[in-house]
Amino acid sequence: MMEKVPQKIKSMRRKIEKMEQEAHILIEKAETQEELNNVRVKYLGRNGLLAQLLKLVPQLALKYRPQAGRLANTLKRKLGEALRGKYDLLRKKKEENELRIDITMPGILKELGSIHPVSRTMEEISRIFMNLGFKAVEGPEIETDYYNFTALNIPEGHPSRETFHTFYLDNGRLLRSQTSPVQVRVMEKERPPLRIVAPGRVFRPDATDASHSFMFHQVEGLAVDKDITFADLKGTLSVFVREMFGQEIRMRFRPHFFPFTEPSAEIDISCIICGGSGCRVCSFKGWLEILGAGMVDPNVFGAVKYDPEVWQGFAFGMGVERIAMLKYGITDIRLFFENDVRFLRQF
Ligand code: DAH
Repeated sequence: MMEKVPQKIKSMRRKIEKMEQEAHILIEKAETQEELNNVRVKYLGRNGLLAQLLKLVPQLALKYRPQAGRLANTLKRKLGEALRGKYDLLRKKKEENELRIDITMPGILKELGSIHPVSRTMEEISRIFMNLGFKAVEGPEIETDYYNFTALNIPEGHPSRETFHTFYLDNGRLLRSQTSPVQVRVMEKERPPLRIVAPGRVFRPDATDASHSFMFHQVEGLAVDKDITFADLKGTLSVFVREMFGQEIRMRFRPHFFPFTEPSAEIDISCIICGGSGCRVCSFKGWLEILGAGMVDPNVFGAVKYDPEVWQGFAFGMGVERIAMLKYGITDIRLFFENDVRFLRQF
């Protein structure tokens, strides 16, 4: 006959079963490692439900105590396994989430920046001449009197020096007031024939206003060869003007004086705004002055020991800001140098 099992051990068994069910539900529900840890503490912690249960074991009859102990240990082991399993699962999920890229999130836009309109225009000008066989070269911004003036047929005391107002440095050098000295530097180093463009910064102590800046940019050009004529200058510049401003643009040469070229001319293009009928941009003249040019003066060849009886050349120089202003409809040169991104962003 089966021995009657006393109430106490029965109720303990029921408690353990119930505890097990509840614990599994909680482990199942736990969504974070923290929640899971709370479940562990609740059941297996030092003052947890299992510990409390074990405290009741001494109240049982001696012969039931081992059974009760086994039940409690089994529960402890089962919960421990379930907790570990769930813990691993949550850890994996967390790692996956950290790695996952949510493609529905708005992207983080990087400020990319862009080429400055002056650099862009200077490159565009240089590129057109490079496509015609010109090589791009650079010269120093700190120059000597000789290269900026004397070698360019502007001797000391010559009135035309006045038109090239100049910043002088304490050491007797100066900030170049034009890119023309690069012509001389190249001719000293190289033998003709040569075709170069020299883009770069120039400096003049002008009061700043909408069309003047103490620093601006020029692109210089020089071609030296046998039998170069004014027609070559005209042909080259007309290609440039059409590439830069459009095929319909007309060009005119106005007689002018530059010390380093003879004859010299200033070159105008038909107004790119009104097409020549007259508007505010061209001061109702229909023409816009864009560059100076001419045939290299024999005195300049003399300075670099080229025989003017053998070699001829043409030269030209233009202001980059002026061309950029015309091309992009910019009315104030200062905008180029203020670094206001609202302006720069448009290019
Ligand atoms: N250097 C001149 C200036 O700054 C521009 C210039 C005119 C350059 C005629 C030339 C040239 O090479 O032939 O105003």
